[in-house]
Amino acid sequence: MSKRTVTDYVEDVSPGSGALPPRAWYAASGAACLSLNGSWRFRLSPTADAEDDSFAEEGYDAGDWARIAVPGHWVLQGHGAPIYTNHLYPFPVDPPRVPTENPTGDHLRVFDLPQDWPDRAAGGAVLRFDGVESCARVWLNGTDLGEFKGSRLPHEFAVGHLLRPEGNVLAVRVHQWSAGSYLEDQDQWWLPGIFRDVTLLHRPAGCVLDFFVHASYDHRAGTGTLRVDSDVDGRVTVSELGVDIATGESVTVPVEPWSAETPRLYEGTLATEGERVPLRIGFRTVELTDGLIEVNGRPVLFKGVNRHEWHAEKGRALDLATMREDVLLMKQHNINAVRTSHYPPHPAFLDLCDTYGLWVIDECDLETHGFTEQGWRDNPVDDDRWTPALLDRAARMVERDKNHPSVVVWSLGNEAGTGRGLTAMAEWIKGRDPSRPLHYEGDLNCRDTDVYSRMYADHAEVERIGRGLDGGTLKRRGLPFILCEYAHAMGNGPGGLADYQRLFESYDRLQGGFVWEWIDHGIAHPELGHAYGGDFGEELHDGNFVCDGLLFPDREPSPGLAEFKKVIEPVGITGDFGDGTVRITNKQDFAGLSGLAFSWSYEVDGETVESGTLSVPALAPGESADVKLPAPPAGAPAGEALWTVRAALAADSAWAPKGHVVAWGQVPVSERPVPTVPATARPVTGDGVITLGPGTFDARTGALTAVGGVPVSGPRLDVWRATTDNDDGAPWQSDLRYGLVWRKLGLHRMRHRLDGVETGEHTLTVRTRVAPAARELGLSTVYRWTSDGDRLRLTVCTIPEGDWTVPLPRLGIRFGLSAADRVRWYGGGPGEAYPDTRTAAAVGRWQSTVDGMQTPYVRPQENGARIDVRWAELGGLRIEGDPAFWLTARRWTTEQLDAATHRTGLAPGETVWVNLDHGQHGIGSQSCGPGPLPPYHLRAEPAEFSFVFSAAPDAKSS
Ligand code: GAL
Repeated sequence: MSKRTVTDYVEDVSPGSGALPPRAWYAASGAACLSLNGSWRFRLSPTADAEDDSFAEEGYDAGDWARIAVPGHWVLQGHGAPIYTNHLYPFPVDPPRVPTENPTGDHLRVFDLPQDWPDRAAGGAVLRFDGVESCARVWLNGTDLGEFKGSRLPHEFAVGHLLRPEGNVLAVRVHQWSAGSYLEDQDQWWLPGIFRDVTLLHRPAGCVLDFFVHASYDHRAGTGTLRVDSDVDGRVTVSELGVDIATGESVTVPVEPWSAETPRLYEGTLATEGERVPLRIGFRTVELTDGLIEVNGRPVLFKGVNRHEWHAEKGRALDLATMREDVLLMKQHNINAVRTSHYPPHPAFLDLCDTYGLWVIDECDLETHGFTEQGWRDNPVDDDRWTPALLDRAARMVERDKNHPSVVVWSLGNEAGTGRGLTAMAEWIKGRDPSRPLHYEGDLNCRDTDVYSRMYADHAEVERIGRGLDGGTLKRRGLPFILCEYAHAMGNGPGGLADYQRLFESYDRLQGGFVWEWIDHGIAHPELGHAYGGDFGEELHDGNFVCDGLLFPDREPSPGLAEFKKVIEPVGITGDFGDGTVRITNKQDFAGLSGLAFSWSYEVDGETVESGTLSVPALAPGESADVKLPAPPAGAPAGEALWTVRAALAADSAWAPKGHVVAWGQVPVSERPVPTVPATARPVTGDGVITLGPGTFDARTGALTAVGGVPVSGPRLDVWRATTDNDDGAPWQSDLRYGLVWRKLGLHRMRHRLDGVETGEHTLTVRTRVAPAARELGLSTVYRWTSDGDRLRLTVCTIPEGDWTVPLPRLGIRFGLSAADRVRWYGGGPGEAYPDTRTAAAVGRWQSTVDGMQTPYVRPQENGARIDVRWAELGGLRIEGDPAFWLTARRWTTEQLDAATHRTGLAPGETVWVNLDHGQHGIGSQSCGPGPLPPYHLRAEPAEFSFVFSAAPDAKSS
């Protein structure tokens, strides 16, 4: 073998050379196979040509090389560093050229064949790479097999003739940058490496090559039609259906259809002379009928998420357990659809989607977003030289994934502009597989696509689209609509989910959406907890925009996921004060309610008085019934009463145990009695203090210093919150970004001017004006204290002065407690809630700890408020609200929370800071979408609200 340093292929627009044509992927057929995952030798070079290829030769001594785990990314294993950019290419844009500084990882593995590996006469073998970023050249036993690009797509090489029983030398050279990088500008970390499996597969003589399972369902006849096309003739059997047909032949038999709600699979076999491939057949038909996507004759509503592959330690090298965890978490949170943003996932993920039931939009590994910076000039998708690479990518996705019933829509890619190459891909896909509609959001006129798709459209526009008033081309006007991305789940939020869902459920044309996105891509970091863009010293980066998921990086569900679960419940359970009925609606598209058990409980002041089962009639999808609740229990105590009705799994399912609650609702019975405190105690002034009932005040400032024996640092008006990612908004937003406006106004540095401390016969009144330096606007604020001797009532009256044109971040009081740990409250819970993220908050009695009330957003920001709190107990205090309030407690100040960039920057202090809010501004999703809808704005208006303080009954144990 000659010494070569030729690396022209790196910058070649072609998809590569030497690989076998793409074909269907399947897990195991019984043919011998050898996983080459594991510990490999590894050497990193700074350029593509720094080293020659002699390492591929037999006898090369790599004893002093490092070791690396395959699958894996070298930048997450101590070699180099990851880079995060949203859409900017982290290198000069000069396609197809890439920088000379091109980190190149040489990977080496020597392996023996297992003893029982069939000998050469029994067939050949292929070497399969399921994913390598971004360009690889491969040698086996010194023979150059070829090179390839297309990071998240499989590539196979024929290697049977090269194998020997022992000492096979597999050498793989991986370049971080290549022409392919221009096609892979997805918003995520740039993570080079062999990040999916490497497998050696025996290919017996007469084995199956490619095959295509066509399994449709006729909902009128209740029959399925099966035909398996195969490159190699064979027989197809499905014993459960009594099917035994030749490949290419069709059979129609009565079957149960496959759907995401009822993922019925039939086990079958494709047997050729040399191989028996297991088939997992789901019968279903996807059609565009009357402008709607119908599956098995019924329109479907996508309650979806965008899923990037992510693991905080392993990046995109996901193991099966993590993939399963994703699917189970989705199912447990009522999610029914996944868009594989923005590349085909590990193929095993699709097997899981088939098994557990998820609709999949399978998206091709294609994004050229960075070309937007130059007005899309030279965009590869509109340059014929790149079309073979695009077609190669389309084919590798479709051929690999075509046999999955879960895949119901193909997507050309993401944010790649428009161009002839995309049209060529669309034509190829439609020719190869007309059975699935085609998606591509960038095709605004739907020239090549079958679905009108948008991202981050606001509620008003979505409603116009729902009503068909959005105009557009004739073709587009006749197509169904989905939001392929909405509800940007960055930091605290997303807000407004329930309002979107109401639209989806109101207009047939709106077939749902996919929240952006499933999981935060934080990288586990020893000092920072989870790292984001910029934490690795990147020259260009987009900060924590990479942490915008419904799961935290460690896969803990965020409050956003709890909210989404509630908003997309498969069963509606609603009711008002009234006639003792609850309205039950089957919101599923296919399944009945027989798998669910309904129960009720009657609660007074958050305590369950009685509970029982509720019998609900069989309801077909879309049907509703008003179900009578029992008579309220005799002898129930007086107080605020309500019914809670739950729908839970009646039996263990594949994805959750019996009793798992899928839906719930609360029906109020009686209103909460508001706390009354007769103003009977008299303020007593002396020795620099004023006492009023249990309250002690500083006589000069009027500040409360203790309630009973509990010291407090003076409660005072607070309007500031550590701005959320959604408050701050994305730089490209044209709407006002309140996080910035508030800060410019100075709402984070309000001054409190004392205008008077006055005692009356039964009152202590403190007059103040709260305003920021440099501005004329402010809030005239009066604190009025009264007491009945045991309890202390504070009424805050605040009147905006000056030219307030913006909403307030929050309105309430803040005070410090010297000690508090356990927190009990009666109100909304268990998790945080804000005006437009409050659907999942159930009224009840809840408890937690101060630490437990913090939501671990990767970039610290306002979090943890509990909504509709009637009363709370913490730190020895009992606080009742009139009206109910928002409760927040933390071991740091808002200012510290605001200043921290990572959670590890938050050090607990001596004081627990408590916010009792009368109002909070909504959350929205302006970090990439619309801000909060007007009803959720916290307008600066005159307000009055009260709190009653007293010693908590169990003060000692707090
Ligand atoms: C979209 C894009 C996603 C992601 C998201 C914002 O424009 O398709 O990949 O960047 O915005 O997080």
